[in-house]
Amino acid sequence: MTRWKFPPNLKLPGVQPFPPAEICIYCILLLFRFLLLLRIRKKESKMPEKILDDISHRRYNPLRGTWLLVSPHRTKRPWQGQQESPSKSTLPEYDPACYLCPGNKRASGDTNPKYESTFVFVNDYSAVKEVQKEYKQEDDANDLSSLLLKAESVTGKCYVLTFAPSHNLTLADLSIPEILPVIQAWTAIYTAHLSPHSPLSAITHPTTLPPSGITITPPTAQYRWMQIFENKGAAMGCSNPHPHGQIWTTTGLPDEAAQELEQMKKYRLEHGSSLLGDYAKLEMEKRERVVFENAAFVVVVPWWATWPFEVMLISKGHKRALVDFGDEEKRDLAEVIGEVTRRYDNLFETSFPYSSGIHQAPLEGTDEEIEASHFHMHFYPPLLRSATVRKFLVGYELMAEPQRDITPEQAAGRLRDCGGPLYRKLL
Ligand SMILES: *[C@@H]1O[C@H](CO)[C@@H](O)[C@H](O)[C@H]1NC(C)=O
Ligand SMILES: [Zn+2]
Ligand SMILES: [Zn+2]
Repeated sequence: MTRWKFPPNLKLPGVQPFPPAEICIYCILLLFRFLLLLRIRKKESKMPEKILDDISHRRYNPLRGTWLLVSPHRTKRPWQGQQESPSKSTLPEYDPACYLCPGNKRASGDTNPKYESTFVFVNDYSAVKEVQKEYKQEDDANDLSSLLLKAESVTGKCYVLTFAPSHNLTLADLSIPEILPVIQAWTAIYTAHLSPHSPLSAITHPTTLPPSGITITPPTAQYRWMQIFENKGAAMGCSNPHPHGQIWTTTGLPDEAAQELEQMKKYRLEHGSSLLGDYAKLEMEKRERVVFENAAFVVVVPWWATWPFEVMLISKGHKRALVDFGDEEKRDLAEVIGEVTRRYDNLFETSFPYSSGIHQAPLEGTDEEIEASHFHMHFYPPLLRSATVRKFLVGYELMAEPQRDITPEQAAGRLRDCGGPLYRKLL
């Protein structure tokens, strides 16, 4: 090992030598290198997600506590674009055979009124009934049947809600004032089913639907959950194109709702804030997955989206349920629903199929459950590259975990780019 020798010209006899110029320069250079390295590191740590554009990875869904596989390299093959010519609705404005059109007779024998915006009735083919035979499983810890063959009885009430009187319209065709009655109907139906013990029932809302004057009568039993949803398009198994959605209320908490509620409760306990409130804030900062926003809502392709063009509408403020929204916020909800459905149709210039649904506070629940709830709406569409290429959840998805090719960021970019008027109106 060679020892550092001080240059002779700086060597003063009897005096401890001051570090020579070489050492100082060396130190300064070292410092610069260090700073440069630090800057590069900082840049890298700011954008580590960029790497995910090119490598397969798993993303965590904090709302469900599950993972999914993302394989972006598979989308390196060129985007096919749409292969069909833009489709216009060929449906009639009124279909005499449709059980939802105004004035028509339904299977039950009832006749629909000549309604002008929305119309709600109890589903003639309800999946659950209000009254049925009692069932109670014997609870015997030593019995294999009660351990492995569990069942519980479910009662409830199912409604059908039409969105418009015209047979050939969809939510994408409707204006904000035309979507608003749908939101008012959802709110009225939710209000009528709320448990009197829920803190939300103190917020009063009409349970009569304007302008039809139909009053939603509360059911005789208290139900736990209300699932508001829409199945749109034959690809989603919807048998009737008349614009409508469904509302199922049940005694039990369904799995999807239970799973999300559990995750939101856990998050609130650990962090003292709303999981989706924090998530919405983060997405508004990053902006990579934001599709649209207004004062009350942000629309994102979630970080953990399973379906190619899945989106989530999240209330920016901590709103627990529909009853928490004022008139302005309901208008904003109508706007984001219109924006999403129109962008969907514009994307492949077709009537875009999807399943959508609202997640909000349970009708009856603990204070903890109600406070942890955060109003949001999911849209799950199956189309992948065109009006005819759809994604199936099969194979790996069924056996292992969901998988997607196009990244949520790419999907958000495409949806951001197809705003504006509905393509059909320009044909
Ligand atoms: C619905 O049908 C009516 C009557 O045929 C037509 O004037 C209207 O343009 C149609 N609307 C859409 C959105 O297709
Ligand atoms: Zn109809
Ligand atoms: Zn949800």
